[in-house]
Amino acid sequence: MAEPLCVLGSVNMDIVLRVPRLPQRGETLHCSEIAHIPGGKGANQAVGAARLGMKVHMIGAVGSDEHGTTLLRGLAANGVGTKAIARLEGNSGLAFINVDEQANNTIVLAGGANQKVTLPIVEQHGDLIEQSAALLVQLEIPLDSVVRGIELANQSRVPVFVNAAPAYRLSEGVLAGVDYLIVNETEAGVLLNGEMPTANNAVDAAVALCGLGVKHAIITLGEHGAVLAGANLRLRVPACRVRVVDSTAAGDAFVAAFLVGTIRMRRGLEEALQLGCAAGAAACTVFGAQPSLPTLDRVNSLQRMRSDASGTSSRRVQGKGGTTREGRTGAVRV
Ligand code: RIB
Repeated sequence: MAEPLCVLGSVNMDIVLRVPRLPQRGETLHCSEIAHIPGGKGANQAVGAARLGMKVHMIGAVGSDEHGTTLLRGLAANGVGTKAIARLEGNSGLAFINVDEQANNTIVLAGGANQKVTLPIVEQHGDLIEQSAALLVQLEIPLDSVVRGIELANQSRVPVFVNAAPAYRLSEGVLAGVDYLIVNETEAGVLLNGEMPTANNAVDAAVALCGLGVKHAIITLGEHGAVLAGANLRLRVPACRVRVVDSTAAGDAFVAAFLVGTIRMRRGLEEALQLGCAAGAAACTVFGAQPSLPTLDRVNSLQRMRSDASGTSSRRVQGKGGTTREGRTGAVRV
């Protein structure tokens, strides 16, 4: 498809510390390694989609520091259009990431230039949004800019994908213009103003998210795969089994692959979810954010391994609210 994806979002330099364990309150720890790796949820998802073959433009901002130069070069080298990324006086966005020996992480953001992605910047690039095959946003830039981007996309009937990370509650009016809301369990808990869903009740939580007004809600569940709810549709897809090195950007890889599956490859939602899970798993096998985002070959090879492991026959499994079917590819219709 000639039309590109437009990503409106953050660009960060990740400062990654390898630590023996995540620090406790009041604890001081030594790290065994420090690395500077390009990241930012917006930039990661843009690179993720580009590596899967989609043409991508990004709207955002980096600072006037050296990180800004490195980050822009990295995006361009990955095939992401950077003309709409502003170079602004001051610091680029930074993310301070601890990764422990079990591959768990914590992330603290220093927004920098991402916080300066204001309404005029979005308006200035409105044509990019309006001429896109899809708009993809996350919530690491000011919320009113995200909302304006969604409005512009809605006006031109451009499908809107929102990865509500970090989680903030959006108004009913805005959510009504969202085609696909993608969150992890923690973010789902925040948006639902309640408990974090578990793998067992995640389908119900996705249905509740649809109740907020979005057309489809997807919850990623790490080692438990992902669920999707939409009008008369409930899906559950298991994760691919991999040896996890670092889960940073696994969610970004999922979002990019789900979007590419839906918009560029025109796959059904079940297959797009499977692509997302395979891409998320692949990202867990490599250290760092952008270096871990997989190509289509890598995603396909993980998917082949999954379907070999699940065999060719369907089997029946029991799900909440009735019997469900687990197909050859491992997706469950609830
Ligand atoms: O999703 C992972 C990303 O979150 C990191 O690359 C970091 O920059 C933060 O934005």
